[in-house]
Amino acid sequence: MPAGDIGSEIRGRVATALREAFDVRVEPADTMVRPSGQAGVDYQCDIAMKLARTLRRPPREVAEAVVGALGTSSVFEPPQVSGPGFVNFTLRTDWLAARVAGLLGDGRLGVAATQRPRRIALDYSSPNVAKEMHVGHLRPTIIGDALLRLLRFAGHEVLPHNHLGDWGTPFGMLIEHLVDIGWESGGDHTINDLDGFYRQARAKFDGEPGFADRSRARVVALQGGDQRTLRLWRALVDESTRHFNEVYRLLDVGLTDDDIYGESFYDPMLAGTVADLEGKGLTRVSDGAVCLFPVGFANREGEPLPLILRKRDGGYGYHVTDVATLRYWTAERGVDDLLYVVGAPQAQHFRMVFAAGREAGYLTDAHRAVHIGFGSMLGEDGRTIRTRAGGSVKLADLLAEAVDNAAEIVAERSQLEPAEQAQVARAVGLGALKYADLSSDREHDYVFTWSRMLATEGNTSVYLQYAVARIRSILRSAGAVPPPGTVVQLGEPAERALAVKLLQLPAAVDAAVEGYAPHKLCTYLYELAKVFTAFHGSCPILKDHVAPDVRGSRLVLAHLTAEVLVLGLALIGIEAPQRM
Ligand code: ARG
Repeated sequence: MPAGDIGSEIRGRVATALREAFDVRVEPADTMVRPSGQAGVDYQCDIAMKLARTLRRPPREVAEAVVGALGTSSVFEPPQVSGPGFVNFTLRTDWLAARVAGLLGDGRLGVAATQRPRRIALDYSSPNVAKEMHVGHLRPTIIGDALLRLLRFAGHEVLPHNHLGDWGTPFGMLIEHLVDIGWESGGDHTINDLDGFYRQARAKFDGEPGFADRSRARVVALQGGDQRTLRLWRALVDESTRHFNEVYRLLDVGLTDDDIYGESFYDPMLAGTVADLEGKGLTRVSDGAVCLFPVGFANREGEPLPLILRKRDGGYGYHVTDVATLRYWTAERGVDDLLYVVGAPQAQHFRMVFAAGREAGYLTDAHRAVHIGFGSMLGEDGRTIRTRAGGSVKLADLLAEAVDNAAEIVAERSQLEPAEQAQVARAVGLGALKYADLSSDREHDYVFTWSRMLATEGNTSVYLQYAVARIRSILRSAGAVPPPGTVVQLGEPAERALAVKLLQLPAAVDAAVEGYAPHKLCTYLYELAKVFTAFHGSCPILKDHVAPDVRGSRLVLAHLTAEVLVLGLALIGIEAPQRM
């Protein structure tokens, strides 16, 4: 039997049984088969209740017929009808034991690679040049990083790209200010200076007569390729990317300079894109600006909403740049899917851009374009997190604080050497920061609380990391990891429950990948760790009275639990230390 998910296997069989019994076609995914929490039942199917009406038969009768058509199987015991018409499945223990034993030595732990690999452009992180990365950049960066890892593991080809805000009006203002103060490239500057320059430039733009006009002229110089202007611009970009790279390194996020496709990258394509849209008759001049009014978008007054392609002064902006991203990644890079990990406030922007892309034919039915939105990270007072002085919290500071807080917890519980403790603290602190974010549904806002994210009990990364460390310590005491071929025995209910859970990794990965929803994997990992804790509480492993074959089998279960947790955490960018 091929590796993969048991749930899908049962769904496939139920679909076949429905066809045989009633000649109805139900997609396997719609057969309403779910894992069950009921004792002695592993999966439950609710489809009979749903079909009863269309089939004009009592649900129990429908369920009986399904059971009849399912026949016998080597995978599950004869299914049982219960209650108003549930079909209950209990996996055969011998089958379960063999299947779990088969995971030993399988690097993918039962997760099959997709049969339909897609080529995916993944836009994430996308900070703005000349601004220090702050808490607001945490979510687009780590959600994107987790999705990159998950999608690649699932077997897709992913092209990451970082849509840096590195072009347009703000740079005219900034560079004009740099010229004023005699700043030259190549000096000893930090991102901090740049942040300051940005604020000073902003203030002059709003207050100093003539500066706004000079800034606008500077944008024209930048777009026209003026040497000195470009040199300053380059210096700003270089200094900023040095800083971004440092933060990515601290976050263990793999983005590099090769992944930068900033707004400036698309600039040379904008005139051609607008000409193409004009040629297709999709544009209209409104208030001097060239606009595209995608069908189906209106404001509250019912007036059509424009995507501004070219402003009346001839400049290009954020909207048209994203229309160009669609065109570039589909036409030039041949991607099937375009994913944009960007905050929820830009939902409308992306809906309009995608609509325009469809009207222009840049996106076809074969393409999938998805705005992977997310809510905000809030402080305990329910507002945007700010420093005491009211400024935005720098990402680098937040990271340092996470590691410091973790160090306290680790020091309290661990007997490791200081150097190893420091490593562990980094894994725990970083893990806490990432996991708190990734374990909640990305579409919602979430409240950032150190105490909750670093709790050693509950759905936190440190809980999972301790579970892994505990298992590794058991395996060290046992002397060896059980070799492939070790027989697994599932005599105890807790052993059986752990085996079932271990086999649900493929379903969890699939749900996380399909919904771009890392939290679904987190929920699974947490459940697994809890089931393991129950197993460990009731099934001794190393005690003298445990028979060698039982010990070997339990070591397999423990070892596989650690493997699944380590893999699962790695898929969301979190490391599990060997010892803690
Ligand atoms: N730099 C933008 C911002 O800070 C995000 C860019 C997102 N990506 C995109 N293709 N629009 O809001």
